[in-house]
Amino acid sequence: MTVQVHISTHPLVQHKMTLLRDQRTDPKKFRELLREVAVLIVYDATADLAVEDVAVVTPLGQAAGQRLRERVGLVPVLRAGLGMVEGIWNLMPNAEVWHIGLVRDEQTLEPIEYYNRLPISPTVDVCLVLDPMLATGGSAAAAVDILKRWGAKRIKFVGVIAASEGVRRMTTAHPDVPLYLAAVDEGLNEVGYIVPGLGDAGDRMFGTG
Ligand code: PRP
Ligand code: URA
Repeated sequence: MTVQVHISTHPLVQHKMTLLRDQRTDPKKFRELLREVAVLIVYDATADLAVEDVAVVTPLGQAAGQRLRERVGLVPVLRAGLGMVEGIWNLMPNAEVWHIGLVRDEQTLEPIEYYNRLPISPTVDVCLVLDPMLATGGSAAAAVDILKRWGAKRIKFVGVIAASEGVRRMTTAHPDVPLYLAAVDEGLNEVGYIVPGLGDAGDRMFGTG
């Protein structure tokens, strides 16, 4: 299986990423940038969604058209993944949104699950896991484990910044899950933060740092 890691080099993404990383960016601007970057990254992540042909009547006649055939589920990982939902949902208003709550244990850096409202069985064809930060990769791998146990067949990870450790962990644990990102940074510091990264995404979004 070919592991897929897509890193956007689009000038708009890289311009907005620079502002997102900037320590002077306040929470309101941070949320706006995260929403915008998420939309640009999801453009790539949805490029292979299946469509079906439909006819549409314009004011001047009939045109051939297409509509999405697959049901999409957005799965934000709380808290920071919430910041990626709104923009993507505006693009795909029929998507279902299923929340998963994970928090890293500060000592072990392993994720602890504290919230899960998935229905009994999958109701969507494709799940997009949303979380801006892929640090050790523990949270992303756990979110995908949860979705696979639930029965999800097609899963994609949509993030913003990764450390190479996180990319390695995800591509080893879940080689079938493509990763869509805006940057892969140098590595992790001694407390598991991505360097240079952008700091704590949840704190920067919610002003709780
Ligand atoms: C952050 C981030 C990811 C996780 C990444 O969440 O949003 O979920 O860390 O780290 P990992 O790849 O090493 O697992 P955090 O646990 O800080 O929770 P929060 O979003 O509620 O602050
Ligand atoms: N979570 C964050 O929000 N930032 C990091 O750098 C690592 C984990």
